[in-house]
Amino acid sequence: MNSIISNIQNRHDISIEELRFILSTDDEAFIDNLRSAAREAADAVYGKRIFMRGLIELSSHCKNDCLYCGLRRSNSTAVRYRLTDDEIYECCEEGYSLGFRTFVMQGGEDGWFDDKRMCRIVSTVRGNYPDCAITLSLGERSRESYQALYDAGANRYLLRHETASPEHYAQLHPAEMSWKNRMECLKNLKEIGYQVGCGFMVGSPYQTVETIFADLQFIRSFQPHMVGIGPFISAHDTPFADFKNGSVGTTLRLLSIIRLLHPHVLLPATTALGTLHPKGRERGILHGANVVMPNLSPRKHRKDYSIYDNKICTGEESAECRACVEQRIRKIGYETVVDRGDYSPAC
Ligand code: SAM
Ligand code: SF4
Ligand code: FES
Repeated sequence: MNSIISNIQNRHDISIEELRFILSTDDEAFIDNLRSAAREAADAVYGKRIFMRGLIELSSHCKNDCLYCGLRRSNSTAVRYRLTDDEIYECCEEGYSLGFRTFVMQGGEDGWFDDKRMCRIVSTVRGNYPDCAITLSLGERSRESYQALYDAGANRYLLRHETASPEHYAQLHPAEMSWKNRMECLKNLKEIGYQVGCGFMVGSPYQTVETIFADLQFIRSFQPHMVGIGPFISAHDTPFADFKNGSVGTTLRLLSIIRLLHPHVLLPATTALGTLHPKGRERGILHGANVVMPNLSPRKHRKDYSIYDNKICTGEESAECRACVEQRIRKIGYETVVDRGDYSPAC
């Protein structure tokens, strides 16, 4: 059975039968071998270094209606806020002093943050912190918009593809949202020159082994710099409120598989993983992840960026999250680094 692990590692590919086996086996020794092979693969590229990104949640307004997300426009109970330019700069200032060298500005698709405003923000942050990476995660925009933001100084863009199956995409989104457009956005981002992250939720409603297999094949052909995966967590007052959460175990197995398929990829141990298990992020790292994204948003708004229920880190100050993450990582034998943490390309 361990030949499955070496096969994946050597071919940088996986068959659907191998995937089916890994996701269904209860052989703990096998899973532990998978975990250690993945961790060794990450150590070989990135050593014991874990990159930190400071997450700034710009806006809880969203024009979209993704069926899984607590920020969807139809959720009338969601509390909406927007950070001002100055609040964003204060988050960056605090983040910089805490050792962050990547700022991730994320938000719902909010027309308030149009190109003029976003370019102004990005170029100000770029000017203030020339040594930092600026990552955006603002959903689908036009190619021209992505280009303008890149020209203003953004380096990276996170846009989860959500699912590589158009049929599954249609089960997760309203008819007005288009799988083709999402894929087109990812292609545009890469062509423009961003370091790009794609990804998907684990255990989203209607997900199957076949759709996960399609996700892995898509990642293989797209060759992103980063892959963001985390468990689906139900959000109240959404159409998927009564669906069960994704599994931590499956997420960990998939993190290991992705690490073996793509040894160089940047792979976060997500907040969603930390929400479903008290040691979720640590376990994510031990299964091959090499990035953590502590929250840098102003505390007064944190609980309102409520994409799913019971999200962690909503009551803490940035410095507390920073210290907490560092301590957690140190405890498992790794270190957080003050570094932009760029993708390390294969030689
Ligand atoms: N609006 C942008 C977008 O959709 O790309 C960025 C923000 S959105 C909240 C970031 C990611 O959160 C989504 O790509 C989705 O995978 C994830 N997400 C949304 N709802 C979730 C849920 N209920 N459980 C877990 N992850 C969720
Ligand atoms: Fe909006 Fe992103 Fe949530 Fe979809 S996942 S509703 S685009 S914030
Ligand atoms: Fe936020 Fe632990 S990382 S409180």
